[in-house]
Amino acid sequence: MATERTFSILKPDATRRNLTGAVNAVIEEAGLRIVAQRRIRMTKEQAEKFYEVHKERPFFGELVSFMTSGPVVVQVLEGENAVAKYREVMGATNPAQAAEGTIRKRFAESVGENTVHGSDSAENAKIEIAQFFKDSDIAA
Ligand code: TYD
Repeated sequence: MATERTFSILKPDATRRNLTGAVNAVIEEAGLRIVAQRRIRMTKEQAEKFYEVHKERPFFGELVSFMTSGPVVVQVLEGENAVAKYREVMGATNPAQAAEGTIRKRFAESVGENTVHGSDSAENAKIEIAQFFKDSDIAA
């Protein structure tokens, strides 16, 4: 399996509760390397574009409002099979259904405020990384 990159966001519930280090420890313990990282405030436009696939869903407005409610940490993670590995480490979207030891099981408060985002495919990872990072921002 080749080295791969995925895009991650530590969401506003993580920054609000000062959990960015705790979440990063889980990421690193899983063997993923944080090769780029920046703390930002997402604009409404950035959040709407990022979650465009969900724009017809009933939770879209709340999702955009949550993602812009506080700082987020955007990251590029690298490792063997990074996309699938990070999805496994994150746990299910709904923390009530997430497996023991996953980030969402350990830290997430609700399906809406679920602590982390991770790309769902290598193709989407490339698109999402390009929305927030230039190649020169990434130091592998
Ligand atoms: P989704 O892409 O289905 O999940 P994941 O983040 O695990 O890839 O949904 C994107 C985000 O939308 C999800 O992290 C939280 C929010 N969301 C809700 O608020 N309510 C919902 O019922 C769903 C499915 C998602």
